[in-house]
Amino acid sequence: MVSGGAPRILGDVFCGKDLLVRTRVAIIGAGPAGLLLSHLLDLEGIESVLIERQTEDYVRARVRAGILEAGTVDLLKQAGLGDRLAAEGMEHRGIYLRWPGERHHLDFVELAGRSVTVYGQTEVTKDLMDARAKAGRAAFYQASDVVPHDVETSSPYVTFVDVDGREVRVDAEIIAGCDGFHGPSRGAVLGGQDWERTYPFAWLGVLADVAPSTDELIYAWHPDGFAMHSMRSPRVSRFYLQVRPDEDLAAWSDDRIWTALSARLGADEEGWTLKTGPITEKSVLPMRSFVSTPMRSGRLFLAGDAAHIVPPTGAKGLNLAVADVALLSSALAAWLRSGSESLASAYSDTALRRVWRCTHFSWWMTTMLHRHGDDFDAQLQLSQLSRTVASDAAASELAQNYAGLPLSI
Ligand code: APR
Ligand code: PHB
Repeated sequence: MVSGGAPRILGDVFCGKDLLVRTRVAIIGAGPAGLLLSHLLDLEGIESVLIERQTEDYVRARVRAGILEAGTVDLLKQAGLGDRLAAEGMEHRGIYLRWPGERHHLDFVELAGRSVTVYGQTEVTKDLMDARAKAGRAAFYQASDVVPHDVETSSPYVTFVDVDGREVRVDAEIIAGCDGFHGPSRGAVLGGQDWERTYPFAWLGVLADVAPSTDELIYAWHPDGFAMHSMRSPRVSRFYLQVRPDEDLAAWSDDRIWTALSARLGADEEGWTLKTGPITEKSVLPMRSFVSTPMRSGRLFLAGDAAHIVPPTGAKGLNLAVADVALLSSALAAWLRSGSESLASAYSDTALRRVWRCTHFSWWMTTMLHRHGDDFDAQLQLSQLSRTVASDAAASELAQNYAGLPLSI
């Protein structure tokens, strides 16, 4: 079944498949990267087809991170996706850093001239999917056995089995691999190299129907482990607790979660009360840093989690995916509309410079804020936290990276 408008279906002409489709850009994966790429290409008048493994409802409902950099907000607004974001997004000037006995606000507007906006990835996805439905763009959901082919030639194509069991072939000029960490695209990059760091801890993520107990996000170092107070709306709060990677969710009753959050966020110590409410979602999230180079192989381009993963401390994952796609859509527009390949040739290097910077920032925030190693490591972390809030230079470095670097650095 094809959702949205009809792609150009050429029928079973010569390829031995049940269905042959021709488009300019075949996009594998309908996460934020794939959805936004198809939207931006559409604005440039370039047709694309989305091929996604999951159902449309599943993609809509996924709960992910929720902080947008200033540049991400600008891009979404310029792309005509800003209405709900402007009405419902919550602009924050900065964050709180806390550890026992200390609580400090870092004001990004003063330090870096930019704010951030709280607006869930789930909402960004909804806006993108609604825009798609309105424009009637083509997508195949519940596609299985998705494989990119002949990416080193000028006539690459993607094959898969659609939801009705038909074998489909999509011929394209370009394939965009936006299929996340587990998708097939990265494996099709010739001579690709992977760089990886795993961390000896994970996050227990909690979504609760309760008003936030803070005006801006709190990142807390604590001897029992990191904790964070985030939010999704004036009525919904998001929390994280550092736990072991193999943590058993069943061991975390709601009571235990609220007690741990209250202690680690320093509520009692500072004389405020952490408001509690019904917990609507709980999950354990693994933490890893991962970069795959290069981000292009012939006519195949990688974007978002297909090429890189960051640990969530610092909220870079979605923003990095958006930055990749901003670069890639301009590069493909220049190539497909006016035959100029120079931006496409520079894409991997340009994107990776920013990817590595964000990878370093996410690693740094993670390493500074989570309990790991021994007591000596803990003293180094506390020293680094003190320095970060006491020195304008150190605070500005955090603020500039958190609020978002320019696309080309
Ligand atoms: N075939 C087709 N689609 C696939 C396949 C496959 N074999 N494997 C994965 N996909 C789809 C996934 O179902 C998902 O919808 O690719 C999409 C990838 O989306 P994301 O994982 O959300 O990655 P991306 O779009 O790059 O967005 C990055 O999302 O994962 C978060 O924290 C991450 O915020 C970051 C952002
Ligand atoms: C979130 O709200 O989910 C969130 C916010 C900030 C982070 C990570 C996650 O650093």
